Amino acid sequence: MSSNTAAKRRAAFRAVKHIENGMIIGIGSGSTALQAIKMIGELLDSGELYDIMGVPTSTQTMFESIKVKIPLTTLDEHPQLDLGIDGADQIDSKLNAIKGGGGALFKEKIVAAACKEYILIADNTKIADTLGLDQALPVEIHPFALTPAMKAIEKLGSKATLRMTGGKLGPLVTDNGNYLIDADFGPIADPWWLEQQLHSIPGVIETGLFLGYANLAYIGGKGSVKRLKPSIDTVLKKNR
Ligand code: A5P
Repeated sequence: MSSNTAAKRRAAFRAVKHIENGMIIGIGSGSTALQAIKMIGELLDSGELYDIMGVPTSTQTMFESIKVKIPLTTLDEHPQLDLGIDGADQIDSKLNAIKGGGGALFKEKIVAAACKEYILIADNTKIADTLGLDQALPVEIHPFALTPAMKAIEKLGSKATLRMTGGKLGPLVTDNGNYLIDADFGPIADPWWLEQQLHSIPGVIETGLFLGYANLAYIGGKGSVKRLKPSIDTVLKKNR
C-alpha cells in the first residue's frame, strides 16, 4: 500500500468511528471515501455495526457500497442524514473545500447539505492556505449552456477547460447528464462571493466550492491523523 493510501485509510478510520448503529449516513465519492466504504463494510460484516443505511453520492459509490453490502436509501426516504463522510481535493483551515475531482460534486453537495454532521477526510497533500492555489475549481454545467456559461466563468477571472473523458471521445458526462468545467482561478480570495457569482450564471448546475458544510476534518499523514475543526467565522457565515 502506498504511503498516500495509508494516510487516506488513517483519516477514513477516524471518521468511520463516528458512525453509530441506527444512523443514516451520506457516503462520499473518490479514493479516500472508498477507504471509508470498505471499513464500513467490514464493520457490518463483523456485526460491530448494524442497522445503518447510506445515501451514495455517485454511481461509483453506489456500486462500491453494494459490493460491501451497505444498505442504501434515498434523500426522499431520509431527507436528513445523521452523518456524512467525504473526501476533498483541497481543504483550507476553515474547512471550506474544493471538491469534484471525481466529477461527483452535484450529489456530494446535496448530501453535504442534508447532513447534521459532515466530516471531510483527506491525506495531508490536500491542505492549502487558500482554496484555488494550484487547484482548478470544477463547475457542473448544463450541456445547452456550455459555451455562454464557460465564457461567463472566464469573465470572473478564470481559465476554464472543458473536462474530457478517457475511454470514449468527447467531453465527460456526469452522473446527472451534464458537462464539467475545470476553472482555474488561482488563489480564491473570497470563495463565498465567487460561489454567489457562479450560481448567478444561467446553466451552472453546481460548483465544487463546499463552504461551511464540514464541522470536522481528519487529515491523514505519515503515521498520524490531524483532527481539524472550522474556525468560528465559517460557522457564523453558514448561519447567516
Ligand atoms: C469526487 O467528485 C470528489 O469530490 C472527491 O471527493 C474528491 O475529488 C477527493 O477524491 P480523492 O479522495 O480520490 O482524492
